[in-house]
Amino acid sequence: MSKPKIIVTRRWPEEVEKILAEKYDAQLNVDDVPMTTAELQDAFRTADAVLPTVSDRIDAEVLGATPMKARMIGNFGVGFNHIDLEAAKSAGLTVSNTPEVLTECTADLAITLMLMVARRGGEGERHVRNGEWTGWRPTHMMGTSVHHKTLGLIGMGRIARAVAERAAHGFSMKIIFHDPFPPREEDIAGLNARQCNSPQEVFEQADFISLHCPGGKETHHLIDANAFAAMKPGAFLINTARGDVIDEQAMVNALQKGEIAGAGLDVYESEPTVSEPLLGMENVVTLPHLGSATLETRIAMGMRVVENIDAFFAGETPRDKVV
Ligand code: DGY
Repeated sequence: MSKPKIIVTRRWPEEVEKILAEKYDAQLNVDDVPMTTAELQDAFRTADAVLPTVSDRIDAEVLGATPMKARMIGNFGVGFNHIDLEAAKSAGLTVSNTPEVLTECTADLAITLMLMVARRGGEGERHVRNGEWTGWRPTHMMGTSVHHKTLGLIGMGRIARAVAERAAHGFSMKIIFHDPFPPREEDIAGLNARQCNSPQEVFEQADFISLHCPGGKETHHLIDANAFAAMKPGAFLINTARGDVIDEQAMVNALQKGEIAGAGLDVYESEPTVSEPLLGMENVVTLPHLGSATLETRIAMGMRVVENIDAFFAGETPRDKVV
């Protein structure tokens, strides 16, 4: 029996590409050049499964490709707001993602951003590299302590809870959160986390706000000008979720007006473009969407896709079936 044809849209860790090439008739993207809409359409016309990632737009136009050959989208990543699920369903496609394996890694990065922005890590490094450092002094580059402060989480899924673990046990932070689908009691046991009735309540009370909700229509611009106006002037905003949860222009305005103290960002509204004014602000830390970027995690993500497509082609329900 011939092997199913799969098309991988970007470069994956070598170990995983090797396994894909052994098991499947695999078309890899060794040059790692993003595929155009036409190329993606072609992939859906010619492969049995397409394996995209967050930097691909798998929208109704792409999924409208005819005749559609593909039956499966094995997404490399936990977030799937770049895939039009309705269009995928109508085209008869099964979609899977890669939850769990990137939880710890992404939580680590949210904490990295929180510490960097609070302790002026990016600014300090630029200072040293620019040859501006003249020596230790009691008032030099004082930051903000995170210990015993209030961390407000928007969304209380796996990654948020892993952030809360670190913050509560590592830094004695008080945890508050809002999630329209609150976690089970046992999932937040030991965190001493208090549930708020609205995002607004979190904005008003938190010293650090970390976003952990999915992207998409429901959360688009959840953090808008009103949200910024409700935040404490000393608050720091951390985003490792999706860029368009924040109205980026409203964030620029809020930072310029001093409505918040700073921001630690890993994701952006129009990735890879970052609003120009943010790049000139010392109180903003900008990372290039590194949440899951460790070799161990990226291999685990790839292997989770392999597990999902193996199950699909064996006629089983993939473990991480989204639709
Ligand atoms: C995801 O998995 O959704 C990330 O944003 C990419 O790591």
